[in-house]
Amino acid sequence: MNIEISIMSLDDVLAIKDEFYNSFDEFWRIEILQEELQHENSKYLVAKLCGEIVGFAGIKIILDEAEIMNIVIRKDKRNQGIASSLLSELIQIAYNSNCSTILLEVNENNLPAIHLYEKFSFERIGLRKKYYNNTDNAILMKKDISVTYQGGTNEKQK
Ligand SMILES: CC(C)(COP(=O)(O)OP(=O)(O)OC[C@H]1O[C@@H](n2cnc3c(N)ncnc32)[C@H](O)[C@@H]1OP(=O)(O)O)[C@@H](O)C(=O)NCCC(=O)NCCS
Repeated sequence: MNIEISIMSLDDVLAIKDEFYNSFDEFWRIEILQEELQHENSKYLVAKLCGEIVGFAGIKIILDEAEIMNIVIRKDKRNQGIASSLLSELIQIAYNSNCSTILLEVNENNLPAIHLYEKFSFERIGLRKKYYNNTDNAILMKKDISVTYQGGTNEKQK
């Protein structure tokens, strides 16, 4: 599978706007994605397959900490390694931006996402009770990238 990963543009958001809820994610709002993309500390990537958008993911960087804001793969393209490709690139961006840690929150019932993050050695560091809709708990996860990151091909750029 030939996945192309590039910086996500507002045009990319517009391209998936109409099918966002049905084909990508019914739990996020496209307006948030549009706002996030324009935030100077945000870095969003898009994954394309033969020119078609099949996923996106973003981080927000504050000082030496990166937070994963979301990672979403088109429903009919899941479990084919696309999120892994995006996450690998995001970790490399955080590392090249001199971040020492990457943090995230994930719904404790979201097993695909938990598998993804554990595959990349994110560790569970806490629990936010009833964080989602005052019902589901959020697991806080963290990955230390202060020493080195071996998952990508780029050298750290100071
Ligand atoms: C979570 C999500 C991004 C994973 O995307 P994906 O492209 O299917 O993930 P990958 O194919 O790269 O798989 C990553 C790992 O998770 C595992 N995985 C993926 N889907 C799984 C599932 N339904 N159940 C169990 N494990 C799963 C894969 O086996 C893989 O591990 P492996 O390489 O050791 O086999 C995708 O399911 C999604 O878009 N979910 C909705 C949005 C969401 O919940 N985002 C996370 C918010 S915190």
